[in-house]
Amino acid sequence: MAGFSLRKLLDVITPRMIVRGLIYPLRTASRVRRSTPRGTSSPKVKSGTYPAAPLETFSFLGNVTQFERDEDGRVTVTAENGKIRLTPLADDLVQVRVRPDGMFVPPFSYAVAKPEGDWPPVESKLVDTDDQIELHTRMLRIVVHKHPCRLSVLDQAGRLLLSDVEGVGHQADGQLIWRTSFREGAACYGLGEKASALNHVGRRFEMWNVDPSGYERGDDPLYMSVPFLVVQTGGIAAGIFIDNSYHAQVDIGATTPHVLEYRTLGGEFRVYLMAGTPQTVLERFTELTGRMNLPPLWTLGFHQSRWSYYPQSRVLEIAREFRQRHLPCDAIHLDIDYMDDCRCFTWDKRRFPDVQGMLAELHAQGFKAMAIIDPGIKIDPGYWVFREGIQRDAFICYPDGSRYVGPVWPGDCHFPDFTNPAVREWWGGLYQGLLDDGLDAFWNDMNEFALITLKPRTTAPDILHYDAEGRGATEAEIHNVYGMLMARASFEGLRRLRPDRRPFVLTRSGWAGVQRYAVHWTADNKSTWDHLRLSISMVLNLGLSGIPFTGPDTGGFTGGPTPELFARWMQVSAFLPFYRVHSMIKSPDQEPWAFGPEVEAICRKYLELRYRLLPYLYTAVWQATRTGIPIVRALSFMYPDDLSTYSLDDQFLFGDSLLVAPILEAGAEKREVYLPAGEWYDFWTGQLYKGQQTVTVEAPLDVLPLFVRAGAVIPFWPVQQYVGEKQIDQLELYAYYSAGEHTSLLYEDDGVTPDYVSPEAYRLSRFCLRGGEEGQSLSIERVIEQGSYAEVPEQIRLHVIGLKGIPSRTDLEAGELLAQAHDPSTGRLAYDLKAPEAFRITILQGR
Ligand code: GLC
Repeated sequence: MAGFSLRKLLDVITPRMIVRGLIYPLRTASRVRRSTPRGTSSPKVKSGTYPAAPLETFSFLGNVTQFERDEDGRVTVTAENGKIRLTPLADDLVQVRVRPDGMFVPPFSYAVAKPEGDWPPVESKLVDTDDQIELHTRMLRIVVHKHPCRLSVLDQAGRLLLSDVEGVGHQADGQLIWRTSFREGAACYGLGEKASALNHVGRRFEMWNVDPSGYERGDDPLYMSVPFLVVQTGGIAAGIFIDNSYHAQVDIGATTPHVLEYRTLGGEFRVYLMAGTPQTVLERFTELTGRMNLPPLWTLGFHQSRWSYYPQSRVLEIAREFRQRHLPCDAIHLDIDYMDDCRCFTWDKRRFPDVQGMLAELHAQGFKAMAIIDPGIKIDPGYWVFREGIQRDAFICYPDGSRYVGPVWPGDCHFPDFTNPAVREWWGGLYQGLLDDGLDAFWNDMNEFALITLKPRTTAPDILHYDAEGRGATEAEIHNVYGMLMARASFEGLRRLRPDRRPFVLTRSGWAGVQRYAVHWTADNKSTWDHLRLSISMVLNLGLSGIPFTGPDTGGFTGGPTPELFARWMQVSAFLPFYRVHSMIKSPDQEPWAFGPEVEAICRKYLELRYRLLPYLYTAVWQATRTGIPIVRALSFMYPDDLSTYSLDDQFLFGDSLLVAPILEAGAEKREVYLPAGEWYDFWTGQLYKGQQTVTVEAPLDVLPLFVRAGAVIPFWPVQQYVGEKQIDQLELYAYYSAGEHTSLLYEDDGVTPDYVSPEAYRLSRFCLRGGEEGQSLSIERVIEQGSYAEVPEQIRLHVIGLKGIPSRTDLEAGELLAQAHDPSTGRLAYDLKAPEAFRITILQGR
């Protein structure tokens, strides 16, 4: 029977007993249970790094003895202790496999979305010399040294990107090592969710998804691992994706400078090597592992959450507060307490006596509701999901067929085997009832999968058996992909159940490719200034790992933010893809009005700005779906030639044209900002700065330093309290003068339907801004590049910033100029146009 209940404990303790930081450890302490059946070994704890086996205990490949190339361009090299196979998949992408047994069976991968057979043929040539075999594609050169067998990777210009030290080695028990060197001065990004600085050089990491039960800077691993790295220097980049899901350690020059050491406990050495610029490498990686689907537009709005809003009257009260106070908000989240004693897919009828009425009222006020779902299914014969799972044999078992039992919120649980397609289908179908009730989207938590034991980071035993699409596998191989497969089951289920709407799943755990199914939040952070800072480097590295739509618990999960910290965090998160406030059970209130009128006004200002910028943000999200380019971008990613950006992670780019440089310190009211190449306008004052310099800007509490790339045309909508509140009749365009020619994009669709690729379902506009020298003339042209979606505003208000003097002439090609104005105090011009799809406006200055 369920033992001690944390929630019961919380009901009896007095508020005074709730000291910050006390509750969270209690959560883990309160559920100590048997997590293995009698007679089996206790779970293997993989916290911290395990002792690294000495190099001499590995068998490296030895000398090359022969090689062959087949008609598909694959090169198989035989060495004394194994074989390497090189398969070119694109001009800038080569798959490299190493097998000591020489058996190249078709690879199995949950990460890869575009397997070998789906890539068109690639032109390549082979060059054989006494010392090496070289595979050349148009962009890459992979060298296999013969004595002994090691790899080097060069780009098309012959620049060395990677050069093996010992190369790849194996042990009889399955352990693997790869040691390769990278260029001096290179920076490394990616690896998924890492609570440290943007540039990983000089650090060691683990690839093993865990629930750390709260984390600090430097704690590793966390909830989501992605074994992908972008290694860049001087504008050139290598991409390395190691497609192996076993527990791994990655040492990026920490032990030996410039040496990347990768070790794993099992599986095949299968690495995908890429070369190009950081952008082309990420495009290729996301072609390989897939890109995010376009989410419903409302998910770009603001989300309010806490553990937990209940009863239903409280949920409605929160919703009403947002509307009464005119604080834009699109979604309210329901954490575990909506369930009947933490049984997934049920409601606590005492707390939520009229679920459908509550959800209907939320909808009437323009809200969406998202609810949490965990993978642990309570062992309870009276619970229908448990019974169905047993009937379908859906739960994970030991090799002897007995079901695994692990403790989570509801007590002892079984866990679905999401590697079994039939289980995924069953799981996806379970959402039907909650959808019928009126819930809009779901949040998959604890899917590392996390166990609530005395030892945080404890994971299930390695020997557990999984279906793995019928081929069979153990926890050791599946653990890291489990969370992603839960998200996949949820995503595919929602898509099946509601084919006319875009599914939206938020997941805590994940692996390479998770972006195909879900977005992610950086989970149980703290209400500290350092965590605010961490939210930036974490979101940037997730984006550089192919996962573009992420964000932190704004305000911090544990503890309570000061009003100042909350205000600054709301400012930053307005420019991060996933914008949600969430906080720990019994933590102080964390709604925007909980910190007094000054902070509430600041929240409103940035919420309104977020909603005004929705067409711009949506365009950046659409770009991510098409190219994998993140929504928020590290400066080093966009300016790879500028070495001064390589470790910059206290400022970032939001979409193509906005640079965000937030305040990340208590009491600070100004900061230094590095402006990269080009020219930049201060968003608030319109002041123009030359790039490639550091400037100091003032930032009182209500100001987030924000800059606009000169030449940009930025689309705005009116303020809305929620997406869809207003019929958008007028698009506002802010055009920032710059000499020369500059382009900006605008993507539009209905924000709801999943078919956004048919030409009639969307429209892509390209704005071309051409500025004459000295600010004397400016033309802005709109061209419809793709699609014919027609539900778009015809009226345009165009604001022009940065032109000198009063215009002597304005010509509009196509359309009608309704009004124009000049503000002498700011020098800004404004035009009201009724413009058909394509138009060009030309403004000439006085003669
Ligand atoms: C986990 C989640 C957190 C959630 C809590 C209760 O700690 O990370 O967001 O509030 O569980 O469900």
